[in-house]
Parts: sequence; structure tokens; C-alpha cells
Amino acid sequence: MSQYENLAGRTAVVTGAASGIGAAIAKAFAANGAKVALLARRADRIQELADKIRADGGQALAVATDITSDASVDAAVTAVNAAFGRVDLVVNNAGVMIPGDIGNAPFADWQKMLDTNVTGLLRVLRAFTPDLTADGHADLVNISSIAAHLTFPEYTVYGASKAAVTFVSNSLRAELGPKGVRVTNIEPGLVESELRDDITGESGAFLDEWIASAGILAAEELADVVAYTVSRPARVNLRQIIALPTTQY
Ligand SMILES: NC(=O)c1ccc[n+]([C@@H]2O[C@H](COP(=O)([O-])OP(=O)(O)OC[C@H]3O[C@@H](n4cnc5c(N)ncnc54)[C@H](OP(=O)(O)O)[C@@H]3O)[C@@H](O)[C@H]2O)c1
Repeated sequence: MSQYENLAGRTAVVTGAASGIGAAIAKAFAANGAKVALLARRADRIQELADKIRADGGQALAVATDITSDASVDAAVTAVNAAFGRVDLVVNNAGVMIPGDIGNAPFADWQKMLDTNVTGLLRVLRAFTPDLTADGHADLVNISSIAAHLTFPEYTVYGASKAAVTFVSNSLRAELGPKGVRVTNIEPGLVESELRDDITGESGAFLDEWIASAGILAAEELADVVAYTVSRPARVNLRQIIALPTTQY
């Protein structure tokens, strides 16, 4: 049964929908009656999720997309518009997190985080802005991080990329708000996902200890926060949300 009725009939794009928070957001939107385009690089994963959403009675389209590529994002816009028409809800969720100490981390890791978390987000934003501004009411949700505010050893570049996301959200409200685009910035704390999977050694141990002491949200719990936020009446903007496990501070 639909919990957030305002989502019915919306047309959503969720980047990074192959796993974790993005997959949970896509499921939550579809369960509430939105058409959902799933964007990520792993075609098999998003196709599997789209099939599951459709089997559950929802509407979903898998569009294999690399947000670091202009051509790939342009092709995604074309595919989504052809299948679903104009998009009125974009969730910029795709991101990567690669901790590393400032003296030794490979520069390529920093480049990947900036290319994905910042430039990729901007590329998706630009590609869908004509859709978002076309009709006087739309939502743009950017998934930043508590790391935009808190500092952790080895997370300098990741935190900087998320601080950029938070700044972009703030600045965009002035530009897109008057055009009816509600810009919401979400800063999660620890959330269960695949983000941690590739982190090994001392960095992985640090994360495990932190999760054990601070707790962790389920991806579905964060997705519920996002679905609640974008289903408020159009003129109400919960513009900045820090969503943490109660035991994290
Ligand atoms: N988990 C947390 O504790 C936490 C806390 C704060 C903020 N966040 C943020 O939440 C967002 C989602 O992360 P998550 O925790 O759910 O981790 P995740 O499970 O690793 O999900 C990241 C998603 O981004 C996609 N992605 C990565 N690079 C991409 C690219 N170039 N083009 C298109 N898609 C790409 C991945 O799919 P493919 O590999 O198939 O492309 C994957 O679906 C990220 O922005 C992350 O920084 C997470």
C-alpha cells in the first residue's frame, strides 16, 4: 500500500541505483507509485532490480550509465525521456569513497572521487535541468554526507567532495527555487551499503570499529527519509537533512 501518495505519477531518476542507498530509494519511490529510471554502470544489477520492481507491480527502467561520461549521461536522458517522458524528480546519489592518507594515496583515487561525486553529479544535474525546470514543480535531491561537516583522518578528499555537494545544493536553491525546483540536500551518517566493501587494511578496521560503536542505518531507513521529504506539499522544503543512527554523533 502507498504510504506517500504524492509520489504517485512522479517520474524519477536515481543515480547509483545498483546497490545500497540508491537501490533502496528506487524501490521506495516505485512502491509509492512513481516511475523510476535506475542509473548505474552495472547493467545486470539495475536490470535485476528493475525486473523485481516490475514483478512487484511498479514501473522501472534500467539505463546503464556512467556519470563520468558526457555521452553516457546524454544517452540516458534520451532513453528515460523516450520511455517515461519528462523527469520531475532527480536523486543524485551515485558516489564513491576511497580513504587514503594525504601523503601516499594514489592521485587517481582522488580524481575518481572528484570525477564521480562532484563532476558526475554536476553532469547529471545539467543534463536533467531542462526537464526539472519545465513545469514549475520538480525535486532535486543531492546525497551528500555528514563528512561534509565532520573531519576524519584519511577522508579529506571524500569530505571535500561532499562539502562541494552541500555547497552546490545551497547555491542551487537560489537559482532553481524560483523556477519551482525544490532542492534538498541529504547528509547521511553511517548507512549499510557496498561503499565499505572495497576498503581494506587499517582503513577498513577503522570503519568496522566505528560502525560497531556508532551503529548504522539500513539503506531502507534512509530511503524512507528521502521518500518522505519529496512527498511533502510542493511549497514545503525540508532543505537540509542530517540523518544519523541515534547512536552516532
Ligand atoms: N553508506 C554510507 O554510510 C554513506 C554515508 C554518507 C553518504 N553516502 C553517500 O551515499 C551515496 C550512495 O552510496 P552507498 O552508501 O549506497 O554505496 P554503494 O552501495 O557503493 O552505492 C554507490 C552507487 O553508485 C554507483 N556509481 C559509482 N560510480 C558511478 C558512476 N561513475 N556512474 C554511475 N553510477 C556510479 C554504483 O553503481 P555501479 O558501480 O554499478 O556504477 C552504486 O550503485 C554515495 O554518494 C555516498 O557517498 C553513503
